[in-house]
Amino acid sequence: MKKSEIKALEENLLIQIKKNPLPEHIAIIMDGNGRWASKRKFPRLRGHHAGAEAIRRTITASRELGLKNLTLYAFSTENWRRPQKEITGLFSLMTRFLKKETAMMLKNDISLKTIGDISKIPIGPQKTLIETIEKTSHCRSLNVFVALNYGSRQEIAYAVTRLIQESEKNSLSNIQPEDIERFLYTSGVTDPELLIRTSGERRISNFLLWQISYAELYFTDVLWPDFSKKDLYNSIIDFQQRKRRFGGL
Ligand code: IPE
Ligand code: IPE
Ligand code: MG
Repeated sequence: MKKSEIKALEENLLIQIKKNPLPEHIAIIMDGNGRWASKRKFPRLRGHHAGAEAIRRTITASRELGLKNLTLYAFSTENWRRPQKEITGLFSLMTRFLKKETAMMLKNDISLKTIGDISKIPIGPQKTLIETIEKTSHCRSLNVFVALNYGSRQEIAYAVTRLIQESEKNSLSNIQPEDIERFLYTSGVTDPELLIRTSGERRISNFLLWQISYAELYFTDVLWPDFSKKDLYNSIIDFQQRKRRFGGL
């Protein structure tokens, strides 16, 4: 497709999106970088590089749309099982990405935040991450939550531990969902209304199990590095056509 044709297509999708309310929070399981690279006989890391471009595109498109919260699954607690070389490559890519994109985030009033236990992340990348979080903390238009060393079961177990530590003994016999919620990484943030997973896999892989209780799920075969503005728009249009009942009629 020609550039001008893509632009026209995007414009049309945008007109459609604007007819209905936007979700406030979209979460994405960005999958398929490795397969994107294998298809081209590239090393896996090149797939992750192309994936970083897709992240930039998605953040920009989300900001233009006026989305409030975007959560991106970047590294799971299970991803430590990968070869050390890939892990190191991923974190150094993240460091470069953050250094390069901080200016863009500041200019567009976008804040970076994380969910997950970042204390286990290699110290250099961890420092850059904390710097970026601090530098962008005053930004309000779009919050980008990056899930790093994130696992949902670990998050819930940690929340329950904190709850027990901070509770009077007798209040623990009747724990309410709100009590647990208070200690989740996402405390205070609207639950994602839409969860997208790319690359044709149809599973959750330990991501936001609590928070997606009533999210609409959207699976696409597009590999993450190919994920475009048009794909984001299509997922939102699909979401806007769903009937959400929340157990009612
Ligand atoms: C997603 O792409 C990125 C991370 C999990 C870090 P993958 O690396 O999982 O790509 P595939 O699934 O092997 O294609
Ligand atoms: C999920 O992708 C984690 C991230 C996208 C960071 P994986 O590629 O790790 O998931 P599985 O192993 O296919 O379930
Ligand atoms: Mg994968």
